[in-house]
Amino acid sequence: MKINHSNIKKAKKFLDNYECVAIPTETVYGLAANAYSDKATKKIFKLKKRPKSNPLIVHYRNLFDLKKDCLINKEFLKLYKKFCPGPLTFILPLKQDSKISKNVTNNKKNLAVRFPKHKIMRALLKEIDYPLAAPSANLSTRVSAVSHNDVKDDFGNKIKYILEGGPSSIGLESTIIDLIKKPKILRLGGLKISEIQKILKKKLVIENNPKKISAPGQYKLHYSPGIPIRLNVKKANNNQAFLLIKKQKNEKSNYYYLTKNNNLNEAAKNLYSTLRQIKKDKFRSIVVQKIPNTGLGKTINDRLLRASKF
Ligand code: TXA
Ligand code: MG
Repeated sequence: MKINHSNIKKAKKFLDNYECVAIPTETVYGLAANAYSDKATKKIFKLKKRPKSNPLIVHYRNLFDLKKDCLINKEFLKLYKKFCPGPLTFILPLKQDSKISKNVTNNKKNLAVRFPKHKIMRALLKEIDYPLAAPSANLSTRVSAVSHNDVKDDFGNKIKYILEGGPSSIGLESTIIDLIKKPKILRLGGLKISEIQKILKKKLVIENNPKKISAPGQYKLHYSPGIPIRLNVKKANNNQAFLLIKKQKNEKSNYYYLTKNNNLNEAAKNLYSTLRQIKKDKFRSIVVQKIPNTGLGKTINDRLLRASKF
């Protein structure tokens, strides 16, 4: 999708006026506001009905700007060089003189930061002189939005402006790595853990224990399309939506393919939009074929497992 400069200007105008604007990224759409402003960031929580205790990710244009707010280390630099801009979020220590609004971090001393790759989002970040705090642009506990229309479906005209950027190319949220102490993964996401491990040359702990969770958005009741989901199912009834990754002999109206040839990147890209479509088609339950637990299949299974706890 081409950059439309008049749209970027419109988005900038709303953001400069402390309003929230929905923005495209390669992972999922975000609901953005000026991360330096208490007034602007407060609106994100209100619109999303998000608990104040759940901190936000701040989106930066480049390393220079990030260094105004955060302390960095060797591991960060290695990963930054290899994967940024891209679908990786870092938890870093906040500098004492950082201007980040306390709403963003819930008054804590750590900040989640990311450098999005989407070219329209990058063009917007270039135009403004503050970073953007942005959670995924969906209502709390619902699946993330991966298109302009998904955002509209969730928020109607409650959002002042949605910057269009086409469908998100990855379709899953960013992977989160905590670099405060020993590196550990807080959320599986659009960047494979194996890729990160290759660069850091070590095996990483994946913190999935809901009792000592440090990313509140990782609670089980998350990413839910609002109807029951059952995993690892071989056959479906006609009244159940059947989520598939392998081509079936017969076609049926309740079959929804994430991919027809077992391509897990394609499946990731289609996951959230397909879950939304199934809901629109009025199915009351979803069953899912077994999805290989490799590559982005791990993230897909993570999201479906959480959604199945509905
Ligand atoms: O791909 C993405 O990461 C998208 C796009 C818009 O950038 N954003 C996104 O944001 O998924 P959100 O708010 O839906 O999920 C952010 C997660 C939440 O689980 C939150 O609890 C966690 O990051 N988080 C934010 N700040 C944190 C911090 N300082 N320490 C630990 N976890 C944090
Ligand atoms: Mg979210």
